[in-house]
Amino acid sequence: MAVTIKSAHEIELMRESCRLLSLVFDGMEKMIKPGITTAEINQLGDRLIREYGGIPNFLNYDGYPASICVSVNDEVVHGIPDNRKLKNGDILKVDLTVRFKGYESDSARTYIIGNVSDDVRSLVENTKNALYKGLSVVKAGTPLSLIGKTIEDYAHKNGLSIVEELVGHGIGTSMHEDPDVPNFYTKTNVILKEGMTICIEPMLNLGKRSVYLDDNDWTVKTEDGMPSAHFEHTIVVTKDGYEILTGE
Ligand code: MF3
Ligand code: CO
Ligand code: CO
Repeated sequence: MAVTIKSAHEIELMRESCRLLSLVFDGMEKMIKPGITTAEINQLGDRLIREYGGIPNFLNYDGYPASICVSVNDEVVHGIPDNRKLKNGDILKVDLTVRFKGYESDSARTYIIGNVSDDVRSLVENTKNALYKGLSVVKAGTPLSLIGKTIEDYAHKNGLSIVEELVGHGIGTSMHEDPDVPNFYTKTNVILKEGMTICIEPMLNLGKRSVYLDDNDWTVKTEDGMPSAHFEHTIVVTKDGYEILTGE
């Protein structure tokens, strides 16, 4: 499928979908603390999405069994909600996509639960910084490969490794559209254009970059058991830069 350029009307619908998603994050964030289970976070998120008129489109996506991806510590992405309680020292990644008026929004954030070691804190902070570094080069006319190169340089400079098995993507009426947006340098001819809507989503590890798929066939985990962090925004490319659609 070719890369699509969104019209002003479509971008407005993307904005609305992303605004709904941000409100759901705001609601969920309040209850993310020690003692809560990832299933309870999923339940609240699912309820809020529906209350605001959206569709929790992870549910049944390729058979995924929940509305929100909640991944703890060494779980990189696609963690399945369950009755484990969050505890002091954990990090929690929440990845959320909603559908509203036929348009998708996608964003992920990593939360620190209570107190964590300095290493883990800087993993989380630097993964967020890596997303913003990647964003900083975005504007019409820039080669897409510069995003990955910029994230890669920043991650490696800070001693973090990059999960390469999963990448960012275009987004619109489908959750995943062309082009791929890798978090590392790749050769590609894609040039960013005004009106492209894409998701940038670095997944960085404190230890080695290797990951494996859990027996549940969904959850991606670090091979060495070390923690991983993930931040993601949906953005629209503009003439002079970009607009983040999924909040701060
Ligand atoms: N939100 C994920 C992404 O950033 C996709 C999750 S797919 C699901 O691309 F099935 F796990 F929900
Ligand atoms: Co996502
Ligand atoms: Co995504």
